[in-house]
Amino acid sequence: MSSVKVSFYGHVRQYHNLKSEIDSAIHEVLESGSYVMGPKVKQFEQDLAAYCHAKQAVGVNSGTDALWLVMMALGIGPGDEVITTSNTFFATAEAIWIAGATAVFVDCDPRTCNIDVSLIEAAITSKTKAIVPVHLYGQPAEMRAVAEVARKHKLFVIEDNAQALGARGPDFRLGELSDAMCTSFIIQKNLGCFGDGGAVVTNRADIAEAVLRLRNHGSAKRSIHSMGYNSRLDDLHAAVLSVKLRQLDNWNDRRRSFAGKYDEGLKGTSLKLPTALAGYRHIYHLYAVETEGRDLLQEYLKLRDIIALTHYPIAIHQQEGFPWGRGARIAGSLKNAEVSAARVLSLPMFPELTGEELQTVIDAVVAWDRENQGRGTKAKGQGAQR
Ligand SMILES: Cc1ncc(COP(=O)(O)O)c(C=O)c1O
Repeated sequence: MSSVKVSFYGHVRQYHNLKSEIDSAIHEVLESGSYVMGPKVKQFEQDLAAYCHAKQAVGVNSGTDALWLVMMALGIGPGDEVITTSNTFFATAEAIWIAGATAVFVDCDPRTCNIDVSLIEAAITSKTKAIVPVHLYGQPAEMRAVAEVARKHKLFVIEDNAQALGARGPDFRLGELSDAMCTSFIIQKNLGCFGDGGAVVTNRADIAEAVLRLRNHGSAKRSIHSMGYNSRLDDLHAAVLSVKLRQLDNWNDRRRSFAGKYDEGLKGTSLKLPTALAGYRHIYHLYAVETEGRDLLQEYLKLRDIIALTHYPIAIHQQEGFPWGRGARIAGSLKNAEVSAARVLSLPMFPELTGEELQTVIDAVVAWDRENQGRGTKAKGQGAQR
């Protein structure tokens, strides 16, 4: 058995690789005395907007806040429906509920686990106000099709881009075909700070202006308030994020190259491997495989000191107590989301992963697959029925 331990994240390695730049950015903030809504937040907002080729970025306290503050800015609330998927992190739906609206779930495309764009139109009612596509695992949703349905039915599009900053479609950038794009900087994201953080990226000045006010107790000018909240990004996080943003493309390239190695090493196994759509720049926030033997494989890897995690093992509509008195509607079958929840397993994927660690994971997964095939247990993935 290999003596190499493989963790799921490389946060501390990432810090060590950038230690002098990060330490000096933090030190500068500490010495400045400007810790909240100071110059580092403004600078990072400019950096992020430029990176996304967008007109504006507004820092907020989390990806969840980014989503529901945009909904508030657009006047989405009680009585309105918002279409999204159920196989996403809980916060996507939670944000809809915080805004007071009803979450409507359509199924995902089994190839990508992103929203099945062919199902959106049938889920639209007179109450529908917006679509929230999620760029799950680092691959953009099919935004041209989403934008086309939205245009036809006069709906807003709010991108949940907590997982794909730096990804692209074949002929579109993320944030380009929507009203606003929301991202998260919690440490495990491709661009992560040392705590909670998020941002709204938009080309619409009215949305940016509304979120700027909403995030700061409804105030754009000292002592003048309308209804708002406290959801600010701190300068310490912003300073770190500006340093890290300069590395994001390199980090994403490394993730893509590791994904290529996983694809190559695992191609003969029974696992369903991630599908990158032609022309899409998938940035592998997660390398999520699927197998009916998911729990067995996860345990097998754990016994060999390899950490693999599940994203997400319970679809939102299958959570206990769903929808907790909140409004929700299931539009058609969510079979693909349910199958994915039961089978998905994310293998270690972070830019600081070493070649030896990657090979250790590949060898262990291949060995498990061979043993399970030999025993005839249910480890089928690729050919399994949906
Ligand atoms: C798809 C998705 N949406 C929303 C969020 C919420 O972001 P945050 O944790 O910063 O609130 C996350 C991440 O946690 C996420 O992965």
